[in-house]
Amino acid sequence: MTNSETKATLSFSDGSASLEMPIYKGSVGPDVIDIRKLYGATGMFTYDPGFMSTAACNSSITYIDGDKGELLYRGYPIEQLAVNGGDFLETCYLLLNGELPNAAQKTEFVDTVTKHTMVHEQMQFFFRGFRRDAHPMSVLVGTVGALASFYHDSLDINDPHHREVSAIRLIAKMPTLVAMAYKYSIGQPFVYPRNDLSYSANFMHMMFSTPCEPYKVNEVLVRALDRILILHADHEQNASTSTVRLAGSSGANPFACIAAGIACLWGPAHGGANEAALSMLEEIGSVDNIPEFIAQVKDKNSGVKLMGFGHRVYKNYDPRAKLMRETCYEVLNELGLQDDPLFKLAMALEKIALEDEYFVSRKLYPNVDFYSGIVQRALGIPTSLFTGIFALARTVGWIAQWKEMISDPEQKIGRPRQLFVGSPKRDVPPIDQRG
Ligand code: CMC
Repeated sequence: MTNSETKATLSFSDGSASLEMPIYKGSVGPDVIDIRKLYGATGMFTYDPGFMSTAACNSSITYIDGDKGELLYRGYPIEQLAVNGGDFLETCYLLLNGELPNAAQKTEFVDTVTKHTMVHEQMQFFFRGFRRDAHPMSVLVGTVGALASFYHDSLDINDPHHREVSAIRLIAKMPTLVAMAYKYSIGQPFVYPRNDLSYSANFMHMMFSTPCEPYKVNEVLVRALDRILILHADHEQNASTSTVRLAGSSGANPFACIAAGIACLWGPAHGGANEAALSMLEEIGSVDNIPEFIAQVKDKNSGVKLMGFGHRVYKNYDPRAKLMRETCYEVLNELGLQDDPLFKLAMALEKIALEDEYFVSRKLYPNVDFYSGIVQRALGIPTSLFTGIFALARTVGWIAQWKEMISDPEQKIGRPRQLFVGSPKRDVPPIDQRG
C-alpha cells in the first residue's frame, strides 16, 4: 500500500476539533482513510455495524469488484482459474503461496497434501460421541477444533514451519473429516483415503465407496466437485474469514481458528445458503406455487427471503454463479437428469426473479449457492452436508488469510469498540426495593 498525496480532514461543525488523516492506495479498488488516530485526537469512535465502510486489514490474496462482478485470486480471474487453471490443489497452492505452481512445485505440493489425508485413528471416537442425527456442521466444528489436541507438533503460531504444516494438515484432512461426518450419519464404516486418487476423486471415494463396493470415478462429476471447491476457495473478508482472523488475532491455534470459521459459515445468510436454497425449492414443491412464494418474499412482514439470491458485495452478478450454472447443466446432462422436477422448478424461479421489478430494482441476482445446491444434490451429496462441502473448500482461503495476518507487522488483537446505549452507572438496590 502507498500513501496518497491527498489527505482527509475531519472537522466538527462546532469547531471543537479537526483532524487530518492519511489516505492509502491499494493496487486496485477503493482507497482507505487511516482513522487509527481518531480516538486519541477526538475521543470518538467510528460507527459501522456490518462493516459497510470499514477495511479491517490489508490483504494481497483475493480481490472482488462487486459492481463489475469480478473475483480475482492473487490477480487471476476466477473464470480463468476454473476453466484453465488446473485442479483445486493448484488453486490452493496459489492462494497459499501467491503464485501458480510450476510442474515440479505442483508435484511436490500434491504429494505433501496427499500424505497428510489420514486423520489420527483416535479421531473416530470423537465421531462416536455424536448422535447419528447431529448436523454435520456441528460435527465439523467439534472435530476440526479437536485436531489441536492431536497435532501439538504444529501449534506454535510464531514458527513459520509449524504454520505451514498446520495449513497442509487442515487442507488434507478436511475431506476426510467431512466424509467421516457423512458416513457416521448413515451408519456406514469410515472409508480411508486413497493416495492414488486426485483430491476431489478421493473425497468422492471416501463418501461413496463401501467395503463391499468401490466408488467408480466419473470424471465429469469429479470435475464438477473440483469446480465447486475452486469457486468457494476464498472470498476476501467475508463473515467467516473475518471470524478466523479475529480468533487468530488473539494468538489462538489454527485448528481452533478454522473451527470458529466453520461455526460462522454455518449461518443461513452465509454458507448455510446453499442448504437453505435447496430446502426452499423443496418447500415450494411445484412451479404452480412460485407466484404465492414470490408474494411472500416481497412481503416484508413474512420474513421469507429468496435464498440463493442477493449478495453483500456483488450487485450486478456473481461470477461464480455463471460458472456454477454451466456445471449444473453439465452434471445434469451426464446423469440424464435434465427433467428433474427440482431443477425445472429452480429454472422457472430463476427466470421469474430475474424479470421481476422487486428483484431487478434491488439488484438481486442468483448467487453461487443457488446452483451449487442443485449440483451437489445431483452428485449424491445430502442437503445437510452442503455447508460442510463449502467449509472444506473455504479452509484454504481461511488458512491463507490466517497466515497472512500472522505475518503482518501491523497485526493487533481485534478489539472493536461500541456506542454504549445501556444504563449509566447505578447502585444495586436491596431485593425488596426492586420493581
Ligand atoms: N430475498 C428477498 N429480498 C432480499 C434478498 C433476498 N434473498 N436479499 C436482499 N433482499 C432485499 C432486502 O430486503 C432489502 O430490501 P429493502 O431495500 O426493500 O429493505 C434489499 O434487498 C437490500 O438487501 P440488504 O439486506 O441490504 O443486503 P445485504 O447486503 O445486507 O444482504 C445477503 C446480503 C446475502 C445477506 C442477502 O441478500 C440474503 O440474505 N440473501 C439470501 C441468502 C443467501 O443466498 N446468501 C448467500 C450469499 S453467497 C455465499 C456467500 O458468499 O456466503
